[in-house]
Amino acid sequence: MNWKTSLNPILISGAEVLPIVEGGKGIAVSDGVSSGAWAAEDGIGTFSAVNPHIPGAKELSLIESYSSKIRIKRHAEMIERAILGGIAQAKIAYETARNRGRIHMNVMWEMSGVDVILNGILSKVKGLIHGVTCGAGMPFRLAEICAKYNTKYYPIVSSARAFSILWKRAYNRFAEWLGGVVYEDPWIAGGHNGLSTQENEAIRELPEPRVLSLRNTMREFGLDDSVPIFVAGGVWCLREFTDWINNPDFGAIAFQFGTRPLLTKESPIPLSWKKSLLTLKRGDISLNRFSPTGFPSSAVNNSFLQDLQNRSARQVVFSMDSNNIYTEVFCIPREVFVRQNDIPDIQKWIREGFSVPLITPSQTLVFVTPEQNRAIELDRSKCIGCISSCRFSGWTQDQNAQPPIPDPRLFCIQKSLQHIVINGDVNNALMFCGHQGYRFAEDPFYDNGFIPTVKELFERICSGQ
Ligand SMILES: Cc1cc2nc3c(=O)[nH]c(=O)nc-3n(C[C@H](O)[C@H](O)[C@H](O)COP(=O)(O)O)c2cc1C
Ligand code: SF4
Repeated sequence: MNWKTSLNPILISGAEVLPIVEGGKGIAVSDGVSSGAWAAEDGIGTFSAVNPHIPGAKELSLIESYSSKIRIKRHAEMIERAILGGIAQAKIAYETARNRGRIHMNVMWEMSGVDVILNGILSKVKGLIHGVTCGAGMPFRLAEICAKYNTKYYPIVSSARAFSILWKRAYNRFAEWLGGVVYEDPWIAGGHNGLSTQENEAIRELPEPRVLSLRNTMREFGLDDSVPIFVAGGVWCLREFTDWINNPDFGAIAFQFGTRPLLTKESPIPLSWKKSLLTLKRGDISLNRFSPTGFPSSAVNNSFLQDLQNRSARQVVFSMDSNNIYTEVFCIPREVFVRQNDIPDIQKWIREGFSVPLITPSQTLVFVTPEQNRAIELDRSKCIGCISSCRFSGWTQDQNAQPPIPDPRLFCIQKSLQHIVINGDVNNALMFCGHQGYRFAEDPFYDNGFIPTVKELFERICSGQ
């Protein structure tokens, strides 16, 4: 198969481009430089507008750089910086792309102030970007906002059902601005995953029937087969997708890569992160449930995640009242009751230094060291309110809503993602990664630690490899 010729350009966001996409990656993991380089190859580059860096002032992304003592003020400042950073990255992407390909911007629907940030950026980037992709939540208002700026919108969904709900409730009124639909595999794609209660976390369903079902749903809504579906999650090389290309059953298909483009010269992640990608083995990447957004996510099972797993393992249920199950008094310092069987574990954890019991929203106590307790308190005290409802800090954007009960088993994802992208600490921070990340070490393309340019990777992908 001659890949280059069989990969027909398709119409995406108003231009004929090769259907090869770099997915958006926050925080600041896909930026103006990487997305612009991808577009310059006649593909689609996506920069992240989730707390993007302000060029020349990376440190302004760090949580520590917010000076106000009042969280709502830090939150307002975060929104201002996100808008400034988004506009700046859009300009860089545009200049880097040199009028080739398409530039998309990615936001997360559950980020705090998403409407204000989208409006703030889109009102200033006319002609610079061509589409907005958005997932992590149900982005009902995405269509309306993008239509206001004559910009195509691309919801990221993990099932036909999710798209159907979006369409019926909101998108049918903005059909002409629907640029395409991203199908992201909820079991294996890097970053947050859209697994719902309908899916079994332990049993991956293959993408073919799920994408066909999405296509059929789109057809039922009168959407033409030329409206592309971007397939994301587990796409490493196109020779594994031969049956999808030019197959009328699927309609127009584009392939979205998230993990593989992490390892290019233009990718803004630190060298330590790039190098560690080359060492990943099968099984190093897994789904976890620690994100304070409430979504499952796929990441490298490094010391950071292992610490959180160990913390959750030091957990016992308790009751406010004694009864014949909860018989033992325990003071936290308030008196609660625990099961007799749990007493030996509690005593052992306390002996090991995990002497601080913290209440969780699941009516359990989790045991941490005094240092860990201080770190949790410090992180909460620096919260900038970055997600609409944070299960770690209890922050909620909707001041009239019941805030979530803060959960000490989770962590500040904002701080952690900044820590890896700015400080490059691959052991002590969340390292999002797709489940095929181990393929860097097995793919001969990367022999001897080779890090390609975007051009080289793009050519490799176009060759089917
Ligand atoms: C480090 C990393 C960060 C990501 N961040 C985001 C994000 O902020 N928003 C988003 O929609 N998708 C995000 N993704 C998902 C990618 O855009 C892409 O859809 C996904 O990685 C594709 O699956 P793959 O990892 O198997 O290539 C992220 C992925 C990675 C690896
Ligand atoms: S504590 Fe939660 S809302 Fe606050 S900055 Fe961290 S992740 Fe964002």
